[in-house]
Amino acid sequence: MVSKVSKMESIKIFVEDVEGTINEIEIPLGISLNLMEVLKSEGYNIEGVCGGMALCGTCTAEVLNNNEVSLREADNSEMAMLDNLHCKTDNCRLTCQLQVNEKMHLLKIKVSEKIFA
Ligand code: FES
Repeated sequence: MVSKVSKMESIKIFVEDVEGTINEIEIPLGISLNLMEVLKSEGYNIEGVCGGMALCGTCTAEVLNNNEVSLREADNSEMAMLDNLHCKTDNCRLTCQLQVNEKMHLLKIKVSEKIFA
């Protein structure tokens, strides 16, 4: 017996911008992009100065539904950078360290300087 497993072809994420507007973004799977690259391509004001090396902290976003999605744990270099950024919550992440995958489906993030203390 052959079991049929449906495979997702794209995911949706929700991005709250500086004005509080929430935009839905559909991202095709199978592309080798991280979330910082997706946000930049969608026109968000994400600098990403270091190009995804976890060295600049200019790609930070607050994850609003951490308990509903399964993101990879922050590694030591991401944690060290986040410690220096003074986020208001424990839910900040460097978007350059989040490779797009299906576990990110329905992720909600806030992209704003207001996430910093
Ligand atoms: S792009 Fe520099 S820390 Fe993410």
